[in-house]
Amino acid sequence: MSLKPILLVPHAALREQTAPIGLFDKRVKLLADDMLETMYEGQGIGLAGPQIGALERILVMDIAGEGEKPNPLQLVNPEIVWSSEEQSAYNEGCLSIPGQYGEVVRPAEVKVRYQTPSGEEKELNASGLLATCVQHEIDHLHGILFIDHLSKLKRDILMRKYRKAQSA
Ligand code: NI
Repeated sequence: MSLKPILLVPHAALREQTAPIGLFDKRVKLLADDMLETMYEGQGIGLAGPQIGALERILVMDIAGEGEKPNPLQLVNPEIVWSSEEQSAYNEGCLSIPGQYGEVVRPAEVKVRYQTPSGEEKELNASGLLATCVQHEIDHLHGILFIDHLSKLKRDILMRKYRKAQSA
């Protein structure tokens, strides 16, 4: 396994669409494992392909807290097939926008259909933090960032703080 550099806003790859994965070979397993390692190193709870420059439909997550048993998830070609009417708000951050957080409102529960890196079909019923995280990561696969869900005013303030911090 190897660590990959995490791309930061405003890198163009973070705004690209991604391609589905059709061949479930060793390369996909390696990519998924590299992504998990990179996510853990960055102390994130989720990471999507574009964040390491892989424009493919793949994401990894682990929402286990400190001291809890790790619970790594690797989702290939994930698709939200159901979302709840009920919404929930969470103060989101992103490894590609370090140091910045903003409250995003999303469906409180989602059902996601996906494949494992070896091509097995699965479903994930997510609520709470996992629901927030999986929606945030799937957004990445379509070039969408959490800041896009903020009001223009909040986004402008956040981006100003971000640019200032990045240039310091
Ligand atoms: Ni993110």
